[in-house]
Amino acid sequence: MAGLKEEINLDNLPKHIAVIMDGNGRWAKMKGKLRTFGHESGVKAVRETVESCAELGVSYLTLYAFSTENWNRPKFEINALMSLLVSTIASETKTLMKNNIRLQTIGDTLSLPSKCQRELKEAIDTTAGNTRMTLVLALSYSSRWEITKAVKEISADVQSGKLKEISESTIAQYLDTAGMPDPELLIRTSGEHRISNFLLWQISYAELFFTDVLWPDFRKEHLYEAILSYQGRERRFGKTSEQLSA
Ligand code: FPP
Repeated sequence: MAGLKEEINLDNLPKHIAVIMDGNGRWAKMKGKLRTFGHESGVKAVRETVESCAELGVSYLTLYAFSTENWNRPKFEINALMSLLVSTIASETKTLMKNNIRLQTIGDTLSLPSKCQRELKEAIDTTAGNTRMTLVLALSYSSRWEITKAVKEISADVQSGKLKEISESTIAQYLDTAGMPDPELLIRTSGEHRISNFLLWQISYAELFFTDVLWPDFRKEHLYEAILSYQGRERRFGKTSEQLSA
């Protein structure tokens, strides 16, 4: 797969790439190891993806790191994931600063352990002024949770008279992703062809890219492959091919 990077048209990059990082558990099982070893090994893939998106000039990268549904996993695995998050954020903040990358989160972060919340807040505050790329971690996130919260806030604001009309952009402004461009490319690893409650509103027009690669094996070349596939597609937004070329 050497040389894929050179084939990418830098004038037609997705501004926002979203990734469902899947397959850590299966990767570990295939090696006869605990699932948590798969998560630990997934950090290298996170690093590679963040680095290559920043190098190329992608503006937003959103990673689905922990879903609302993941709270149903065994306590041991949840604790391991939270510790991994804390240690990775603590150790990677320097790299984010060096590379001018801003960290943000979406999701019900108040439900995370307080140590995790503290570490996240520190990294978010420290990197707040960085401008090269925004790395968004979806934590305790699910689209239905996000949309339900938005609907509650919208109805409260309508009741209080603060909000008079509801348009598509009103809804977008009440989502956790307010102010971010919608993802143009969604990547899911591990051969599963599902969206799993991720950015349902925001991916309305995203191109979907599924790969059999398990997340811990995901490397820069796989990202390049996804971007090239995106660039090879015709994005019609409901129009016809003829209208687009006219
Ligand atoms: C899905 O694999 C992966 C997760 C639920 C967690 C992703 C977390 C990381 C890659 C580690 C740390 C991340 C950051 C941002 C520091 P799975 O467990 O569902 O795998 P399976 O489908 O094979 O069981």
